[in-house]
Amino acid sequence: MPSRRKFLVQTFIGGLAAGLGCRYAYANTMLSGQIIHNTLAPSLPIVISTWSHGIAANEMAMKVLKNKGKSLDAVEQGVRVSEADPLVESVGYGGFPDASGEVTLDACIMAPDGNAGSVSCLKHIMHPVSVARRVMEKTPHVMLTGEGAYKFALDQGFEPTNLLTPKMEKAFQKWKNSGLRYAPNANWENHDTIGLLAIDEQGDIAGACTTSGMAFKHPGRVGDSPIIGAGLFVDNEVGAATATGEGEAVMKTLGSFLIVELMRQGYSPQQACEQAVHRIAIKLKPHPNFQIGYIAMNKAGETGAYAYAPGFQYAHYQGDKNELYNSGSMQNH
Ligand code: GLY
Repeated sequence: MPSRRKFLVQTFIGGLAAGLGCRYAYANTMLSGQIIHNTLAPSLPIVISTWSHGIAANEMAMKVLKNKGKSLDAVEQGVRVSEADPLVESVGYGGFPDASGEVTLDACIMAPDGNAGSVSCLKHIMHPVSVARRVMEKTPHVMLTGEGAYKFALDQGFEPTNLLTPKMEKAFQKWKNSGLRYAPNANWENHDTIGLLAIDEQGDIAGACTTSGMAFKHPGRVGDSPIIGAGLFVDNEVGAATATGEGEAVMKTLGSFLIVELMRQGYSPQQACEQAVHRIAIKLKPHPNFQIGYIAMNKAGETGAYAYAPGFQYAHYQGDKNELYNSGSMQNH
């Protein structure tokens, strides 16, 4: 349960906000060593996303929102920036390949009305998040995978692209020649999946999550990112959460759904992220290189972030401030 001290701090701040009666006042507050954004009152829109590549994604998402766009369009347009950037080596074009040298992509999107779409193990398509949106809007299904997802993408007019950049081809050959076997290393170069959550001026929340998955993964491996409830969950009455890091642990604990349900019970986004990380630590006995990070947002525009190990960063954009923050982590405590 949330500690009494945290509860009192939040109650005080909540009371202060109500007393101010000011929709546009906001503050960043420190709680258990974490920055809690926007605790006093919502100043919408707000965007939050994982890792440093989130800064550029946030920029695009906020551009959509400031032009009176909807959160669903903002999250899609935001993560497309990372998908197309070859310097982002864990998402879309230029992502690390699997153990057979193929780049395979996982992505999902979730709308304020509770609708969702996803694709997994998708090859040759630059923007899996947009294919996921088409699955949501044009089919009665939630997820398409592998060859079927690829054929659907072509039917929808997406162009086939070679996703393996020369840099990644070299990295793959080096890894293959080293004789190393696959080992999870989710803090690698400090970036991973992009998960992005947005709340628009109307207070509607949407989310998107997209990745090339763990470097040199087993062919056919699907992570948490396209699994609704694991890599991403949105409930527009409550809030949203998304995950990064070693997806297997997120899948085994249905982390994003757990966070949203904890927020429904009254936990702040920060407390809910912390609980979800603790759940993994207790249930799964993580290995030494383990990393997992969560970000969350509630209906009031409060956000939270927390990781298992130090090193997780997230980007938060509100008003005219789009900034990168270090998340707290369980191993820091
Ligand atoms: N979180 C990304 C993955 O495990 O594939």
